[in-house]
Amino acid sequence: MSLRNNPTLSANTLPRLGQGCWNIGDDPTKAHDEKAALRRGLELGMTLLDTAEMYGAGRSEALVGEALRGLPRGSYQLCSKVYPHNAKDPLLTASCEASLKRLNADALDLYLLHWRGDVPLAETVAGLEGLVKAGKIRRWGVSNFDVSDMEELWAVPNGPHCAADQVLYHLGSRGVEFDLLPWLRAHGVAAMAYCPLAQGGTLRRTRQDFLTDPPLRAVAKAHDASVLQLMLAFVLRQPGVTAIPKAGRPAHTEQNARALSLGISPQEWAQIDAVFWPPTAKMHLDIE
Ligand SMILES: NC(=O)c1ccc[n+]([C@@H]2O[C@H](COP(=O)([O-])OP(=O)(O)OC[C@H]3O[C@@H](n4cnc5c(N)ncnc54)[C@H](OP(=O)(O)O)[C@@H]3O)[C@@H](O)[C@H]2O)c1
Repeated sequence: MSLRNNPTLSANTLPRLGQGCWNIGDDPTKAHDEKAALRRGLELGMTLLDTAEMYGAGRSEALVGEALRGLPRGSYQLCSKVYPHNAKDPLLTASCEASLKRLNADALDLYLLHWRGDVPLAETVAGLEGLVKAGKIRRWGVSNFDVSDMEELWAVPNGPHCAADQVLYHLGSRGVEFDLLPWLRAHGVAAMAYCPLAQGGTLRRTRQDFLTDPPLRAVAKAHDASVLQLMLAFVLRQPGVTAIPKAGRPAHTEQNARALSLGISPQEWAQIDAVFWPPTAKMHLDIE
C-alpha cells in the first residue's frame, strides 16, 4: 500500500493517511511537540489535518495554524467541522470565518457538519453551498452520519455534493463495513475513519484489550510493528477510507506513517478476522 490518494474524492483527493487534531493545543507545555508532530506528518505525506471549532474551543485550530506558518498552502489540506447548532446561516458563515481566522487560512479544503442536530439538512446544505460559492471552503461533508442519514441528505437539494463522511472506525468497531462503507463507495463519498487507534468507541473492546491480545501481538511482532500500527493498517486496508490518527509527538507520527507499508498478508488478515469478526448484520453507528 502506498500514500496514494483516496480515489473517492475525484476533484479534490484526500491522502490515505491524515492527522487528527483533537486535544491538540490544550496544554501549552505540549505545544512544541504537537507542532513538530504535525510538521513531521506533512513531510511523510500525511497532508490532511482534521480539526473542529469544538476542539479546545478553537485551541486546536489555533495550534494547527501556528504549526503551518510559513509552509506553502498547497502542501496541506485543512478540514474543520461546525457544531450542529451553528449549522445554518448566519451562524454557519460566522463559524467558518472564525475557524479560518484561527487557522490563519483563506479557505478550508473540507468543512464538515460535526454531527446531526436540529437544523434541517436542507438549510445546512444551502449554507455550505454558499460557503463554496464564496470561496471559503472547497468541499463540504458530514460526520457521524449513518446510511439512513446519508439517504436523507441525498434527498435534499445539492445533498449529493457531499464529499466525505467522517465516522468512528477501528478493529473493535467494524459495523460500518456492513452497509455504510459500501454505500459511501457506491456514491463516491470519501470515508474518513476517526479513532483509528481505538482511543474511543463504545462497542466490544477497549484499546487495552487490543494491546494485550495474543494473535494481534503475534502478527504485529512478525512485522516488527506495534499492535497500534497493525490496527492502523487494518483501517487503511479498506478502499476509499482515509484514516486520521492523532499523534502528539513526532515519534508516534512516524510510527503511524509506517502503517501504510507493513505488508500484512491475506492469511494474516484472515487470522485477525477470525478473532475480530467483520459484521454480519446492521449495527448502530458507533460514536466517540
Ligand atoms: N468527527 C468526530 O466526531 C470525531 C470524534 C473523535 C475524533 N475525531 C477526529 O479523529 C482524530 C483521531 O481520533 P482520536 O484522537 O480520538 O483517537 P486515535 O487517533 O484513535 O488515538 C489517539 C491517541 O493515540 C495515541 N497514539 C497515536 N499514535 C500512537 C502510536 N504510534 N503509538 C502509541 N500511541 C499513539 C495518541 O497519543 P499522543 O497524543 O501522545 O501521541 C493519542 O492518545 C481526532 O484527533 C479528531 O481529529 C473526530
